[in-house]
Amino acid sequence: MKYSSTLHPVLAASLLGGAFAQTWCGKNYMANQTAVPPGGQFDLPVGSTEPLLAFRCAPAFRPYLEEDAQTASFVVDTPIVYQYISGAAPITLLGNSTLSAGSSDLGNLNITISIGESVLATQAVPLNASGIEVSVDLSSLQAQKTAYNVSCSATYTSDSPQKYRANSSLLYLPDTNSSVTKTDLRTGALWVRPVDGSGGGFAPIIPNGFYTSFDQYLVNNLSIIDNLKADGFNTIHPIPPFDNVTVFQQVLNRTQAAGLYLIYDMRSVYQNLSAVAEQVNSLMSYPNLLTWETAHEPDGNSDPFGAAKAAYDLIYQMDGYHPISIVLNCEDYNFSPYVEGSDIVIQDAYPIGINATFSPVWHTPCNDTFGHCGCDNCEGNMVDIKARVQTYKDRLNIMGWDRTKAVWSAPQAFGSGAYWNTTPTGQEWAAMNLASLNHGALGAISFSYPTTTGNVTTIEGTATNFTGVISESVAPFLVDPSVNFTGYSYQGVDVGRWFNGSSSLLILANINGTGPYVPWAEVGLGWVTNSTTQVQRVFSVSQNTNNTGFNFRPGGIGIWIATE
Ligand SMILES: *[C@@H]1O[C@H](CO)[C@@H](O)[C@H](O)[C@H]1NC(C)=O
Ligand SMILES: *[C@@H]1O[C@H](CO)[C@@H](O)[C@H](O)[C@H]1NC(C)=O
Ligand SMILES: *[C@@H]1O[C@H](CO)[C@@H](O)[C@H](O)[C@H]1NC(C)=O
Ligand SMILES: *[C@@H]1O[C@H](CO)[C@@H](O)[C@H](O)[C@H]1NC(C)=O
Ligand SMILES: *[C@@H]1O[C@H](CO)[C@@H](O)[C@H](O)[C@H]1NC(C)=O
Ligand SMILES: *[C@@H]1O[C@H](CO)[C@@H](O)[C@H](O)[C@H]1NC(C)=O
Ligand SMILES: *[C@@H]1O[C@H](CO)[C@@H](O)[C@H](O)[C@H]1NC(C)=O
Ligand SMILES: *[C@@H]1O[C@H](CO)[C@@H](O)[C@H](O)[C@H]1NC(C)=O
Ligand SMILES: *[C@@H]1O[C@H](CO)[C@@H](O)[C@H](O)[C@H]1NC(C)=O
Ligand SMILES: *[C@@H]1O[C@H](CO)[C@@H](O)[C@H](O)[C@H]1NC(C)=O
Ligand SMILES: *[C@@H]1O[C@H](CO)[C@@H](O)[C@H](O)[C@H]1NC(C)=O
Ligand SMILES: *[C@@H]1O[C@H](CO)[C@@H](O)[C@H](O)[C@H]1NC(C)=O
Repeated sequence: MKYSSTLHPVLAASLLGGAFAQTWCGKNYMANQTAVPPGGQFDLPVGSTEPLLAFRCAPAFRPYLEEDAQTASFVVDTPIVYQYISGAAPITLLGNSTLSAGSSDLGNLNITISIGESVLATQAVPLNASGIEVSVDLSSLQAQKTAYNVSCSATYTSDSPQKYRANSSLLYLPDTNSSVTKTDLRTGALWVRPVDGSGGGFAPIIPNGFYTSFDQYLVNNLSIIDNLKADGFNTIHPIPPFDNVTVFQQVLNRTQAAGLYLIYDMRSVYQNLSAVAEQVNSLMSYPNLLTWETAHEPDGNSDPFGAAKAAYDLIYQMDGYHPISIVLNCEDYNFSPYVEGSDIVIQDAYPIGINATFSPVWHTPCNDTFGHCGCDNCEGNMVDIKARVQTYKDRLNIMGWDRTKAVWSAPQAFGSGAYWNTTPTGQEWAAMNLASLNHGALGAISFSYPTTTGNVTTIEGTATNFTGVISESVAPFLVDPSVNFTGYSYQGVDVGRWFNGSSSLLILANINGTGPYVPWAEVGLGWVTNSTTQVQRVFSVSQNTNNTGFNFRPGGIGIWIATE
């Protein structure tokens, strides 16, 4: 279906969002209002000149099932940091006399993981390391809906023993034949069973899909579901309300038959716990249910702080087999209170085609304290996506939520109406996906389907190639806990490199207006001597290589595999 040149009125109204709210992201935005600082800003941590240990510990999977009892593990992080991020405490490092001369070895910590009086594991782990796995046996525990409180302690002995603690939570549930979505806290990726409910083992997935309106599109045309699958996507997110129950049942049926995972959206009822309970009860066994979504842009609408957390707690009491996402729209408005009520925070900054400084809807300026320009505190280009995903990731780390909560993106796949004077090209849409991956996003649910269609310059035209590349070439690196990641920014080219011990995956997105050149050595490939044999193209647009590096035209994007 061809995207219309003007937004459907219902869609436009919902995108305006703030049309019905007093403020957006805490800011006034109408000409007859005044600028008032919105408050609610994220507190950045205080620096330290002395080293601090940010000791962290979490189960490797959430949830564990009874069938996992003997293969379970915890993942432990022991970074030395110089900011008082959550849980960071001073540490006196061993002098060189105690350690092997000239080594970067800082010695070990003795770790103990316990539940109440019962010790699950003790192990020595290196200081200043991340992702250390510690095996545990859960057989002596009772599988139950309530999470176990886990206490992790660490002892580091220099002049005298220094002790550190971290609390964690272990969800250990009864086995089930119904759908289960586990989160791998080593990588943040989801793990699922086959979508058709036929049983079988768990495998990792990078959810890649679209929001699609139920009452505008699906209620009239179920074949949209099949089109989305044919475009190579693996996930669908119907947007409520789902007023026509008969058709909604058909939608569920059809998504399962098509082989799509489903995100079930409770945005319109999430503040009403009895309605949440009713919906969770009727959907939680559904074979292709991937995740629950509760608050939609609660930060834009200034929803009550506790609401997402209350829904979250209720859903975990009832279900526990599926993670919960929320969507945040603001750059910096009460991030932590809202994110507390989620496992996955989806950023939905839509920067393409906006005027970042003057609202075409409200005819007022936009700045840090006033206005609504469709993308909060944005510049109006690709940099906004990179910055937004990275900022959210950084905040999760500061809060001590880096293992327990993940960031996804909602790439912009609409435009030409309201705040947006254009729709992203296929290349821009792909670039938003790639920049998100480079900054840690582990899922992409674009807004919204149907989108532009036709040749490869359109979003759907690009998706047919791009989705397969993501699932076949990119996802295996993202979901591999042994992979090491390094990010680079070189002359406006945003680069991520994932190394699995034999190959490097390179994702490159030129978010510079010009056409820079990136030598191999600038992105960790200084060892390349023969690009023909060592650097293989997976996907690229407006971007190629020569013997010494990567060439870009404006907006160029590329995915390459390099092998020594
Ligand atoms: C302010 O402007 C808005 C939008 O133009 C209008 O709906 C509202 O009634 C105005 N409020 C006052 C107090 O004038
Ligand atoms: C330990 O030795 C290394 C290399 O010799 C040196 O760079 C470092 O400053 C020394 N650290 C301390 C605490 O003495
Ligand atoms: C760790 O525990 C082992 C065995 O209990 C002990 O020998 C060792 O000294 C401890 N190391 C530290 C750094 O506390
Ligand atoms: C639901 O949609 C179907 C198909 O469009 C229609 O026939 C039916 O009347 C609708 N039911 C309700 C209650 O609106
Ligand atoms: C979907 O509906 C068809 C026809 O009503 C039915 O035969 C089939 O079993 C349903 N599939 C699922 C997965 O519910
Ligand atoms: C934004 O809108 C203002 C007012 O219409 C205009 O002066 C400015 O040039 C626009 N900026 C961009 C980047 O389009
Ligand atoms: C933002 O714009 C409003 C409206 O023009 C103005 O009153 C306010 O001073 C501006 N704030 C900043 C921080 O520039
Ligand atoms: C591709 O489709 C776009 C949008 O419909 C159109 O503007 C463009 O001319 C087409 N390009 C080619 C090469 O056909
Ligand atoms: C963009 O690339 C040019 C070289 O083509 C470089 O001079 C410039 O600094 C880059 N801009 C940014 C923001 O990195
Ligand atoms: C990742 O980095 C760690 C720590 O430097 C190293 O021990 C490990 O071998 C690296 N893994 C790969 C696949 O290179
Ligand atoms: C790269 O390797 C290929 C295959 O071995 C060889 O044909 C080619 O000449 C080499 N290129 C360079 C620049 O050495
Ligand atoms: C997409 O696939 C088509 C057909 O295989 C191919 O011709 C085209 O070059 C691909 N586009 C990109 C950007 O890789």
